[in-house]
Amino acid sequence: MAEYDVVIIGGGPGGYNAAIRAGQLGLRAACVELRGTLGGTCLNVGCIPSKSLLHASELYELAVKDFAGLGIDVEAKLNLPAMMKQKAESVGQLTKGIEFLFKKNKVDWIKGAGRLAGPGKVEVTAPDGTVLILETKAIVIATGSEPAPLPGVSVDQGRIVDSTGALDLPEVPKHLVVIGAGVIGLELGSVWRRLGAAVTVVEFLDRITPTLDGDTAKTLQRTLTKQGMVFKLGAKVTGATLTNKGVTLNIEPAAGGPAETLEADYVLLAIGRRPFTQDLGLETAGVTVDRRGFIETHHFATNVPGIYAIGDVTQGPMLAHKAEDEAVACIEVISGKAGHVNYAVIPNVIYTFPEVAAVGATEEELKADGVAYKVGKFPFSANSRAKVNHEAEGFVKVLADANTDKILGVHMIGPDVSEMIGEYCVAMEFGASSEDVARTCHPHPTRSEALRQAAMGVEGWTMQV
Ligand code: FAD
Ligand code: NAI
Repeated sequence: MAEYDVVIIGGGPGGYNAAIRAGQLGLRAACVELRGTLGGTCLNVGCIPSKSLLHASELYELAVKDFAGLGIDVEAKLNLPAMMKQKAESVGQLTKGIEFLFKKNKVDWIKGAGRLAGPGKVEVTAPDGTVLILETKAIVIATGSEPAPLPGVSVDQGRIVDSTGALDLPEVPKHLVVIGAGVIGLELGSVWRRLGAAVTVVEFLDRITPTLDGDTAKTLQRTLTKQGMVFKLGAKVTGATLTNKGVTLNIEPAAGGPAETLEADYVLLAIGRRPFTQDLGLETAGVTVDRRGFIETHHFATNVPGIYAIGDVTQGPMLAHKAEDEAVACIEVISGKAGHVNYAVIPNVIYTFPEVAAVGATEEELKADGVAYKVGKFPFSANSRAKVNHEAEGFVKVLADANTDKILGVHMIGPDVSEMIGEYCVAMEFGASSEDVARTCHPHPTRSEALRQAAMGVEGWTMQV
């Protein structure tokens, strides 16, 4: 008789959602987590603390630079320790919330490091060194990811930090150099620039955010540059040396050429993340990984019967909501239901100002696949609400199949687009055409009207100016 129906290794968005869904479905479930709190990367050192600092720093910059333009005279003063404290409080409340949900759904939180220990067995080494064997019918691996290293640049969480260190700097840097113009670099670079740092972003490629639709990436780069962020594209960092003043970086053009140095008091390394499977016993268990270390799955099942994997440790976008959707579907499959994730409708957001939000195919992808498509585009400068709010940067772009009008992709850059992309996710889940959105009444005056106007633009009948 197995002790559990399912044991989940990892308590992040993949692991905790799997555990809660298992509890809801009446399965005897345990979640093994080595960190002192639940919530994984996302709640502890990822989505949540970064959005807390993005929100606070955005308000600070608004108060310093933009309130006067709205007729409000204030003298804003930064209190960095207080900003960090409110961030920590939000994180604490949310991680405690997961503990409450575990209790409510009768999930056991087993504290320690989990390891595969033969068919139906998970060995847990508790923080005090005691070892426990859990017996279970099914195992779900949800051990997440960790920052990718760069040879020659050793992260010490002092002067050279990864995202975790960058969420807790003790002071506003004078000059922060960010290595990697991806999501983390731009979000955390924005936080520190808003709080007063000079920020230089060094990127290997000749464009920022390589997976974004090119149109959006160009607008984002232009806007961030206007805000004061400096980009050094097509450049690679070959080494970082600690000095008594900070850090000296050696930089070379990616295409070859003379090297140069760059001085910084802090460096943020953010060149991507890699799956975390250290000491998990994958090899002994015979679980197959791809050449980059991601666990290979088919409908959440690994090649070993009874072992499943979800979230960042598997292939696909490294996003909390992807991990959450896989968690629910995986547990439903384990309990004999028809769990399913629609990978064509997983939105993607960058929480800079303005924000970027996207779902579905980019123009570049449609061109590469030879798909005939039509474009409807609407600028926020022609949206009345954005205009009166003095936030008229950006656009909404809808890509629809030229033959069927089915929506294939949506790309937005503008204020609060993270809150608006969900409308298009629902539309795409229901297989909507651009005309479906174009003929749906939207409230006036709202920024959401831009969503409709872009859809109207697919057939050329945009009206608002
Ligand atoms: P994780 O959240 O990494 O959780 C894995 C857990 O497993 C960890 O707690 C780890 O301690 C534990 N673990 C590992 N090995 C073991 C073991 N052997 N035994 C026991 N426990 C183990 N995504 C978004 O969608 N939106 C965002 O805004 C966003 N912002 C981010 C900001 C930053 C700075 C970072 C770094 C990431 C951000 N992400 C964001 C990505 C998001 O955090 C991840 O996609 C998400 O956390 C993945 O969930 P997961 O459950 O797969 O893994
Ligand atoms: P990323 O993959 O988004 O960007 C990494 C960037 O670094 C790329 O532009 C890449 O070309 C560049 N790069 C790679 N090697 C380099 C080198 N040697 N020198 C200079 N540049 C180099 O990775 P990032 O920003 O570290 O984020 C990791 C993941 O975390 C993201 O892919 C995302 O899945 C997740 N995340 C999601 C967020 C969100 O949803 N808003 C926020 C933060 C993280």
